[in-house]
Amino acid sequence: MRERIIQRLTERNTLMTPNAWDYLDRQENPSDIIDEMVEEKKDLPFPLGRDVLRSFVEKGKDDDESSSTQDLEVSIEILSDITGESTCTGQLDDFVDYFSSRYEKLRAVISKRRESQGAMDINTIKKRKGEGKVIAMVGDIYSTSNGNKVLKLEDPTGHIKGFISQDSEAYDADLLGDEVVLAEGSVWEGDGDYDVTFNIDKIVRPGVPKISQKKKKDFEGKMAFLGDLHVGSEAFIDDAWEHFIDWIKNDEGAQSIRYLIISGDLVDGIGIYPNQEDELTIKNIYEQYEEMARMLSEIPEDIQIIAIPGNHDIVRNPEPQPSLPEEIQDMFSDNVRFVGNPSFLDIEGVKLLLYHGNSINDLSDLIYEVSSDNPVRAMKEMMKRRHLVPVYGKKTPIAPEEEDHLVIDEVPDIFVTGHVHHTEIEKYHDTILINSSTWQDQTDYQKMRDIQPDPGKLVVLNPSSRKVTIQSFV
Ligand SMILES: [Fe+2]
Repeated sequence: MRERIIQRLTERNTLMTPNAWDYLDRQENPSDIIDEMVEEKKDLPFPLGRDVLRSFVEKGKDDDESSSTQDLEVSIEILSDITGESTCTGQLDDFVDYFSSRYEKLRAVISKRRESQGAMDINTIKKRKGEGKVIAMVGDIYSTSNGNKVLKLEDPTGHIKGFISQDSEAYDADLLGDEVVLAEGSVWEGDGDYDVTFNIDKIVRPGVPKISQKKKKDFEGKMAFLGDLHVGSEAFIDDAWEHFIDWIKNDEGAQSIRYLIISGDLVDGIGIYPNQEDELTIKNIYEQYEEMARMLSEIPEDIQIIAIPGNHDIVRNPEPQPSLPEEIQDMFSDNVRFVGNPSFLDIEGVKLLLYHGNSINDLSDLIYEVSSDNPVRAMKEMMKRRHLVPVYGKKTPIAPEEEDHLVIDEVPDIFVTGHVHHTEIEKYHDTILINSSTWQDQTDYQKMRDIQPDPGKLVVLNPSSRKVTIQSFV
C-alpha cells in the first residue's frame, strides 16, 4: 500500500512529510484518501504536509455529515431513571430491601458467567463442606496479624466466615465491602474454637464480557459532552464559555453535533462546602439556574441537550438523584431535557449510561491504583463490579430504594461521568468511557485540597465510527 501511495504522489511531483504519514496511517482507508486527493486537487504542495492532508480529510467528513444530519429526528428513550419512581420511606427496612435488590440484580449478572456453574447457596455449602463456590455479598473485611484477610460472606440463605490467605490469587482482588462476587474455595470444618470457614482461593466479579466484534451503530452525526459548569461560582471561566458558544454556533466542525450531554453540577449551588458564599458571584440558587438557562439558550436549538444533576444541584443528595424540579426545568428552552442521576438512555440505538461520579472519590480512597486525577480507572472498577457506588457508607450517600438503580444491569455503549473536573476518555472492551471537563477554574477550596482542574474542554464523539476528539476553549 505504501509503495502505491508513493507512486501516486511522485507522479504528481510530490512526497509526504513524516508527520503526514503518521496522520495518514491513522485513517481508515489511506490509499483511497490519496487517490481522491490526487484526482480532486490540481496542485499538490511539495512536500505534502499533515495540515493540508488533514484539512482535505476533514472537509470530506464534514461534507458527508452536514448533508446527512439535516432533518433527523431526536429520539431518546429513558430505560432507567429514578425520577418519579422513588419508593424511599426513610424506614430502616428500606435498607434491607435495597441490599436484597442489589444482591439479586448482581447475582443475575454474575450467574451468566461460565464460572458460576455449580455455585451453591451458603447454607448448603456450610453443611456439605469440601470444595465449592458461592455467589455472595461481601461484608466487613479486616486483616489478621499474620497479614491474611478475614471477611463475612452473605446470601439470602445465611452467612459464612471467609478467609483469604496472602498467598492466594484472591488476595489481590481489591475486594470492597458490599460488592457481590463469585467466591471459589473450600469449607473448613469448625471445632470448639473455630467457626466453619470458607477458605477463598479465587474471586470472580460480574465483569463485562469481552466482545471482539465492534457493533457498528447507525447513528448519524455526533454527540458532545461537557459538565461541571458551576454557574454562579466566581471561578466560572466566562472566556472559555464564550469561545465554546462561538464555536458551536459558527464552526463547520460543530455542525454535525446533534446531542449535547451535561454530566451534572450545572450550578455551584449554595452552602455546599464551608465559606462557599465568599466564592460566589450569584448568591441565589434560582438566579444561578436562570443564568444557566440563558447560557444554554445561546446553543443552536436543533441541538438536543440532556442534563443530569450533580452534588451541587438543587435535588436530594443521596443517590439515585431525581431530575431537577419542574420550576427549574421551566426556565430552560424546549431543547433541554432533564433526567436523573444516574440515567440509562437509548439515543437512536446508542445506549448511554450517565452518572455524575460522586463515588470516584470513594474508589480513589479505597483502591491503590485509582485516583481522582484518573477517573476512567475508577469507571473501569465500577464496570467490573457492575455498580456505580460499589461501597456503602463512605462519602457517597445512597437512598435505599426498593430497587437498586445503581446496578449497571446492561453494558452501555457510552459511559459518562464528571465530578472530578478532569477530561479523560478511554475504551473498555466495547464501551467508551468519558469523564467530561468542567467550566470552573481552580477554587480556593480546591487549592487548599490540591485539586488541579482541567477546564474548558468539549469531548466530541461520533458514535458510529467511535472516533473521539477533544476541543479546547481555554
Ligand atoms: Fe463539580
